Amino acid sequence: MGKTRIAVLVSGGGTNLQALIDAQNSGVLKSGEIVLVLSNNSIAYALARAENAGIEALCITKKECGSQEAFEEAMLAALKERDIDLIVLAGFMSILSGHFVKQYENRIINVHPSLIPSFCGKGFYGLKVHEAALEYGVKVTGATVHFVNEVPDGGRIIMQKAVPVLPDDTPKSLQKRVMERAEWIILPEAAELVSSLIMQDKELKS
Ligand code: GAR
Repeated sequence: MGKTRIAVLVSGGGTNLQALIDAQNSGVLKSGEIVLVLSNNSIAYALARAENAGIEALCITKKECGSQEAFEEAMLAALKERDIDLIVLAGFMSILSGHFVKQYENRIINVHPSLIPSFCGKGFYGLKVHEAALEYGVKVTGATVHFVNEVPDGGRIIMQKAVPVLPDDTPKSLQKRVMERAEWIILPEAAELVSSLIMQDKELKS
């Protein structure tokens, strides 16, 4: 079998997408190839990052499709048309239904900016995660890459990396540290791990 065909789903700035592109260029991501970037937001800078890297970039919005169901069907059609083996959620801010995730069981991974099971689930996304961590007063946070199932942030954990919280942190300074020291490292590593397992037709051992 050839390389695992990867689609990266994005909604915003796409720094995690960039980390994946960089990992592909440096050889960290070698068992998989990013063949599609799919955004649910037409003004996401991630789309420009994909184009700059020569990767097909597609935008499908819920608004245009009319309903969550139609939105997911349009995404599934685009993914199937391109024979996608692995879906990487990299700052994708829409919760996928059980119907969607069942079609790619153990084939969808997500990066979340906390140490799951802390500060995760519905309503915990982007800066809100770091606001909650600071409000609680934790001294260590981090990032998690996990498989996606029908429970938001509830699928099996693949990798985690801890990051310290410093006394003067703001949500933004903490977000930056978690991205630089955790997300941008473990997302490409996990994408490589899962891509190589798919290539060998194996599942992740616990
Ligand atoms: C990242 O911190 C990612 O972990 C988070 O959104 C940010 C997207 O940044 N995702 C979630 O909160 C998902 N629950 P990016 O567009 O620069 O990669």
